Amino acid sequence: MAQPINPLITEQLDALLHGETNLTANLANASALLMQTIPAINWAGFYQYQPTTDDLILGPFQGNVACVHIENHHGVCGTALATQATQRIADVHEFAGHIACDSASNAEIVVPLTLADGTKLGVMDIDSPEKDRFSASDQAVLEEFARVLLAHVDKA
Ligand code: SME
Repeated sequence: MAQPINPLITEQLDALLHGETNLTANLANASALLMQTIPAINWAGFYQYQPTTDDLILGPFQGNVACVHIENHHGVCGTALATQATQRIADVHEFAGHIACDSASNAEIVVPLTLADGTKLGVMDIDSPEKDRFSASDQAVLEEFARVLLAHVDKA
């Protein structure tokens, strides 16, 4: 079993993004922090919501090259977008419609990123080669990470 995600990652993110609200810069640094800090993961990054097409497009990430477009309701990411609920998947091979970008991935967690006024920014996606990698307490840490990230985003 992989080590739990250290809750201090949320404070590290807050310090890292201090004074900056540029979305691309902050998503890029957030993806690097996730990848550097969380044990036993092989991909960490973001898919950004496109209101004109109501789908997701690849944003800043760390890991192998990934699929660019994900339709709303499709895959783990599109399900998180459609339901606005975190998807914590112990075994992606059991998830109907999972989009396989890297055959090494076995577990996945996707957290929706939506501002308090309802503006959808997209989703945060993390993959692991270890089945059942993400616990309920890891989910809580990552949801807090998402709240800190959203607090540093300039909507415009
Ligand atoms: N597995 C995701 C697609 C994105 S990759 O994991 C980077 C999904 O099913 O939505």
